[in-house]
Amino acid sequence: MKHYNFAVISGDGTGPEVVAEALKVLEAAGKKYGFEFSTTEFNWGGEHYLSTGEVLPEDAAEQLKKFDAVLLGAIGHPKVKPGILEKGILLKLRFDLDQYINLRPVKLFPGVETPLANKKPEDIDYVVVRENVGGLYTGIGGFTMKGTADETAVQSMVYTRNQVERCIRYSFDLARKRHTKENPWRGLKEKDIAEGKTAQLTLCGKTNVLTYVFDLWERVFHEVGKEYPDVKMDYAHVDATTMWMVKNPEWFDVIVTENMFGDIITDLGAMTQGGMGVAAGGNINPNGVSMFEPIGGSAPKYTGMGVINPLAAVLAGAMMLDYIGEDEAAADIEKSVAFVTGNKLKSMAAGKMGYSTSEVGDLVVENL
Ligand code: IPM
Ligand code: MN
Repeated sequence: MKHYNFAVISGDGTGPEVVAEALKVLEAAGKKYGFEFSTTEFNWGGEHYLSTGEVLPEDAAEQLKKFDAVLLGAIGHPKVKPGILEKGILLKLRFDLDQYINLRPVKLFPGVETPLANKKPEDIDYVVVRENVGGLYTGIGGFTMKGTADETAVQSMVYTRNQVERCIRYSFDLARKRHTKENPWRGLKEKDIAEGKTAQLTLCGKTNVLTYVFDLWERVFHEVGKEYPDVKMDYAHVDATTMWMVKNPEWFDVIVTENMFGDIITDLGAMTQGGMGVAAGGNINPNGVSMFEPIGGSAPKYTGMGVINPLAAVLAGAMMLDYIGEDEAAADIEKSVAFVTGNKLKSMAAGKMGYSTSEVGDLVVENL
């Protein structure tokens, strides 16, 4: 039987509760699909920082590299100044493990309420590929004349050609993987299908203002795109993208964008799919160790009450399975989640689901 080793960073607040449900579901999936796994817990997070003064051990990335993947609950503590844990754990691991893709599906599950009027599950089903280590997050910049009236602060959007190319290539491959000739993207026109297109990739940028960085992105997009004649290429400025995400989300299949734009538009995307209770993401290094997480925070006020929605963590677990090659199991978990949202839960919100956190995990297991 196949055996995997997962690192688990349950983290703070409700992190451990939702991770427990995700692991419960993964275990059931393993029984059905013939794999086993062991987990090693790393107790990094706000509690650990407050009691030891250590944000992350020096060799954290090295330790994680020994695993097949990492499942993360939530990092964040009301008693820790904002920025310390985010930068010191989340961003540091992304950089040190070179997790250059942040994969964020925006998918409305049946029965889940969306704030977008008249939009149905078939209208909201796309994936955002956010470049995850470059751009403004590189941390290049500085101050001059700090503390004076002439103080100047600079923070630069930095991209290397290689960073752009590997991200765009990943996105084309993903578009191709999501759709085939037998299962073309529903938004294609007859003309596109006649031309052999099966999927669509939208570059989200700002070529009209950021004329250096997005000139690079656009050139690479078109060069790499020549190798993917089956993928329809599209472009939208980031501001227009937010407009279409609200007005016409059905226009999107896969969106690729730079780091900060991706950070912003994926929070919007998460809201349109019913909020943080159901939004999952993966920090991916296609040739290394990847880390999967529910996007919502540690929700400290709900800690230990058994009311938090674990489905985002369950879906993060499914993404992790997909990443390690257990794609059938992953798809099955998604199907089970869709059944549970469509037929069981009253709401996605904490305390309003009609079930406790662990009962929701059980429901997903039962319907697997
Ligand atoms: C996210 C978060 C992080 C980011 C923060 C916590 C540093 O907002 O994962 O989207 O900006 O990437
Ligand atoms: Mn964010």
